Amino acid sequence: IDKSSEVREIIVPTIDTVRYTYLVDLAMQHKQPILLVGPTGTGKSAYMMQYLYSMDTERYATPIIVGFSARTSANMTQYLIDAKLDRRRKGVYGPPAGKEVCIFVDDLNMPQLETYGAQPPIELLRQYMDHGGWYDRANTFRTMVDCMFCAAMGPPGGGRSNITPRYQRHFNLLSVVDFDTKVLSKIFVPILDWYMVKEGFPANIAEMKRSVIDACIEVYGTAMGQLLPTPTKSHYTFNLRDISRVMQGLLLIKPSQLGTGAGAKEKFLRLWTNEILRVIYDRVVDAEDCNWFLGVLKDTFKAHFDDHLDRVFRTLSDGKPVETEDLRRMYFGDYMSGEEEAAKRVYDEVPDVAALMSRMEELLVDHNATSKRPMNLAIFLYAVEHTSRICRVL
Ligand SMILES: Nc1ncnc2c1ncn2[C@@H]1O[C@H](COP(=O)(O)OP(=O)(O)O)[C@@H](O)[C@H]1O
Ligand SMILES: [Mg+2]
Repeated sequence: IDKSSEVREIIVPTIDTVRYTYLVDLAMQHKQPILLVGPTGTGKSAYMMQYLYSMDTERYATPIIVGFSARTSANMTQYLIDAKLDRRRKGVYGPPAGKEVCIFVDDLNMPQLETYGAQPPIELLRQYMDHGGWYDRANTFRTMVDCMFCAAMGPPGGGRSNITPRYQRHFNLLSVVDFDTKVLSKIFVPILDWYMVKEGFPANIAEMKRSVIDACIEVYGTAMGQLLPTPTKSHYTFNLRDISRVMQGLLLIKPSQLGTGAGAKEKFLRLWTNEILRVIYDRVVDAEDCNWFLGVLKDTFKAHFDDHLDRVFRTLSDGKPVETEDLRRMYFGDYMSGEEEAAKRVYDEVPDVAALMSRMEELLVDHNATSKRPMNLAIFLYAVEHTSRICRVL
C-alpha cells in the first residue's frame, strides 16, 4: 500500500473485490448497465468508486457520480447529469467528443415515493434506458450518446423501496454479499500493518496487530448476533463500517503518545477499548445490555490479549473489578493540546478528569467571548462525557 494514501481510500484486494471488479468491468466494456445489490457496508460504493477512478482516461471522461437520497428529485438528477454533458450537435448530448462516460448512481432506491408510488428520479433514468435520452425543461428531447449507466443499492426496507420492474429489467444484477470473518481480518490487518510501519511503532505494539483485529471482529460478531434490533432498539444494526470506524480510531494514535515498554501496550489496549466502546457500546441503551457488553469485553481480553481488563483499567476502579460506571471516566480526545489547527492536534488519552473539566470550561469561555450566540452552560461530568464523544465522531 502506498505510504501517502488516505486510510479511507485504501481498498485491500480480496477475492471478492477481484470478482466484482471483473464483472463490472466486463459489463462496462460491453456497455451493459449493471446494478450492484447488497446489504449496507459491503463495500458497493467503495468498490465502484475505486473502479471508476481507475478507468482509462484516454477512453473515458471523468465519471459522473450521482448519490441519491430520500430528498432527491427528478429535476436535481437531470440537472446534475445534464450539466456535465456537452452538446455534440443539435439535440444530441454526450461527454467530450471521442470519449465515453460512465454514470454511477449510488443508493438508487433511496428517493421517496411520490403520491402514486413512483420514484420520479428513477422514472427519469428509465426514460433514458427506454428512449436513449430525456426531455429537458423546455420539452425538447435530448438524445444522449456514449453514456453508460451503473448503479448500486441496498435491499428494500428502512427507507429504501422496491424499484419498478420496468426499470430493473434494463440492468444486469450483481449481488454483493456480506464478508466472512476470515476476509475481514485479511482486510484490516494489512491496513493496521501499513500504518504501524509508516509511523514506526515499536515491536511490542506491532506484534499486537493481529490480536487487536481478531478481538475487534469477535466483539463485532458477538454484538451483531446478540444485540438484535427490536422496535425499542431499532438502532442496533451493525455493519462493516463499524469495524472501519474502530480502525480509524486506532490509526489516530502516534507512537510518541504511547511511550515504550509495557505501559505502551496497556495504553494501546485502553485505546482499543475506547474505540470499541465509542463505536458499539454507545449505542447500547439499557443497563442490562451494558453489563453484558462489559462481560464480553472482559472475555475478549482474556482470549485475545492474554490480559485482564480489570488490570489494564485498574486506575479507574481503584483495583476493584471494573464496572460500567468506571469506564465513564476514560477519555481519549484531541482537544487538550490547545492547537488551533486540527491537523496539529494530537489524539491522546486524558487521564486527569479535573484537567479535562477545566479545559472544557476554558473552551466554553473562549466560545462565549467570540460567538454571537453565547451558551450559558454548567460543565459537569455527564456533559463532559458527551462532549468528548462528540469530538471523536469521525
Ligand atoms: N476490500 C476492502 N478493503 C478495505 N476496506 C474495505 C474493503 N471492503 C470494504 N471496505 C470498507 O468497508 C466500508 C464499506 O462501505 P460502503 O462502500 O459505503 O458500503 P455500501 O456502499 O455497500 O453500503 C468502507 O468503509 C470501505 O472502506
Ligand atoms: Mg453505499
